[in-house]
Formats: sequence, C-alpha cells, structure tokens
Amino acid sequence: MHAPASLGTERRSGAVFLIFKMVGCLDRHPKDGSPALPDRICRRHTSELRLQTGGRNGKPVGRSGLLRCTFMSGERIISSQVPALAPGEIHIWHIDLAQPEAAVAALRVFLPREELERAARFHFAVHRDRFVVAHAALRSILGSYLNAAPESLKFIAGSHGKPDLEPQSNPLGLTFNLSHSGDRGMVGVALQDQLGVDIEQIRADFAGCEIAERFFSPREVVALRAVPSDLQVDAFFECWTRKEAFIKACGQGLSFGLDNFDVAFGPGEVPALLHVKPDPREASRWKLYNIAPAPEGYKAALVVEGADHVLQQREWVNPLAPA
Ligand SMILES: CC(C)(COP(=O)(O)OP(=O)(O)OC[C@H]1O[C@@H](n2cnc3c(N)ncnc32)[C@H](O)[C@@H]1OP(=O)(O)O)[C@@H](O)C(=O)NCCC(=O)NCCS
Repeated sequence: MHAPASLGTERRSGAVFLIFKMVGCLDRHPKDGSPALPDRICRRHTSELRLQTGGRNGKPVGRSGLLRCTFMSGERIISSQVPALAPGEIHIWHIDLAQPEAAVAALRVFLPREELERAARFHFAVHRDRFVVAHAALRSILGSYLNAAPESLKFIAGSHGKPDLEPQSNPLGLTFNLSHSGDRGMVGVALQDQLGVDIEQIRADFAGCEIAERFFSPREVVALRAVPSDLQVDAFFECWTRKEAFIKACGQGLSFGLDNFDVAFGPGEVPALLHVKPDPREASRWKLYNIAPAPEGYKAALVVEGADHVLQQREWVNPLAPA
C-alpha cells in the first residue's frame, strides 16, 4: 500500500476531505463497449480497491463506487491520504469547475497575486471562476503529493509556456499537466515522465469537416470521413483531444505543427500515436491513452513518455468548500 501524504490545506480548513471516485475500474466504455483501458490496468485497479476497502467489510467497491480513503470526524470526512506515486503510475484527477460562489471565494487563498491578476482579466465571471478553481485545484493536488501548502508552490514555464514546478518546490520530480473545458478540469500527475492531458466538451456544432481539414493531418481527415455519420462527432473529439494531449506532452503547443503527426481514433481503433515527423522514433517514445470513462459530454486523452503505465482516476473534492 501507499504511504499517506498529508494535505497542506488541512491546517487552514480544519476539515479537509477527499473522496476518491474510482471511475477508472471500468473495463469497458459504458457507451460503446470499447475497451476503456488495457485489462492489466483494470485488474490492478480492482485489487487496489479491494485492498483499500478491506478494513470495512472486505468487499470490493463495485463499478464507479465511492472509495473513501478517510478518517472520520463528525459528519465531515477528513483525509490526509493521497496515494504516493510509484514510477510508471499516472494519476488523473477530474475537477468539477462549477463550484458554488462561496467555494470559489475560499479557493482564492491558494492563488498568488499573479494568478489572481490573470483571473481578473477574464471578462465574464464564469470564466474567471473556472480559472480560479482549476488553478487552485492544481495547487491543492500537487501540494498533497509534496506535503506542501498549495499557495507555497512555485511554477516556471517552458519555452512554449508549459508550466512546471520549480525544482526547489519539487523534491519528488513530479510532472503534471492541466486541461479545462466547460465545467470540467483534468490534471495528470506522474513521476519524472513528461505528460500532456486534454479534456474537451463535446460540441456537435464545432465538429465539422472544415475544422478537421484545418487542424487534422490528411490521414486523420480520411479516417474521420470513414466513420459512420452518427459517430463522427465523438470521433472528431477523440482525434482533437489526442492531438492536443500530444502537443501538450511535448510542451511545444501549436508550434509542433498539427499535420506533423497522426493519431489513431474512431470506433474499433486502439488509441495510438501513429507517425511523427520529422523523427519517426518519437512515436514509440510516447504512449497515448483514451481517458474513459470521461465525464458525460466530454472526451479526454493522455499522452505520456514511456510505456506500460498504470492509470488511476480520481475526483478532486474542494477541501475548502463551506460545510
Ligand atoms: C496550451 C495549449 C497547447 C492548449 O490549450 P487548450 O487546449 O486551449 O487548453 P487546455 O485547457 O487543454 O490547457 C491549458 C493549460 O495547459 C497548460 N499549458 C500552457 N502552455 C502549455 C504548453 N505549451 N504545453 C503544455 N501545457 C501547457 C497550462 O496549465 C494551461 O492552463 P492555463 O491556460 O489555465 O494556464 C495551447 O497553447 C494551444 O496551442 N492550443 C491549440 C488549440 C488548437 O488549435 N488545437 C487543435 C487541436 S487538433
């Protein structure tokens, strides 16, 4: 079992709680029946669930059951446990960005002045609040692994803006990436290996061939056209999130050139990075995963360095939400 790491938020809130929703234990996508994750990963999840719930009644938590890694205190669930990361493990945290006003206000204490200034630049309050929650959640999640207060973390940006933790704040060598769309945010966390995540709200009006021709590679456009029309919107966002996750993993953003690589997507296709220019060896340096199940109405993807990863999904719970 993993060693507990205490949350830096505990002393502030008096009642920090985390509920881990083990959505990653599904072995089939509930909608299309496609494999969600390799079987090996699903088995690993299931055995972890059994281990962690064995203390209560020994029963494994069922599909999408709630796993509470907790210490009880009154009615609140207090947890100072975040599983430590082992090499090769990737933790995917899902974030509900649509927090009540009071919860958003509370989370502002996690953000330094520069991030609050960035938030203030949004014209609409809804976008400002989503930004505050996403960035506070990122700090709370990373702080929990590092046993550091969220507001104490310092970030640096790579040459194309990819955020990284300052080495002094990062004795574990954590790597991470954040994505947000609509009401949902997602953070991927790993050890040493670079990674990129992308989550996108599915919007049928956006998923047209014209957009695909502009952003996808010629091979991907052909693959999209071959998908039955009733599955095209889903396929479009599969391709989009996989491409985004790759350029975010590399950290190069759009400067990489979206037609310089192909991803596999669509019904029956195993998620994969197929071909990367100019150095084809890049395709085997990275592993592409579909994140399934993604939140309803969203598609999500992960690209991470190496192979044979163990993925775990969790739902972040705002530790400062008023009772
Ligand atoms: C960052 C970028 C790579 C992705 O942006 P996006 O999809 O709009 O936004 P996401 O929510 O997935 O990711 C944003 C987060 O990624 C991180 N990020 C910023 N620059 C990054 C980079 N170069 N590499 C990786 N991550 C980066 C930041 O944490 C950022 O959060 P913030 O804006 O709140 O600070 C963007 O610069 C970009 O190039 N977008 C391209 C959009 C596009 O046309 N995609 C076509 C896909 S087929």
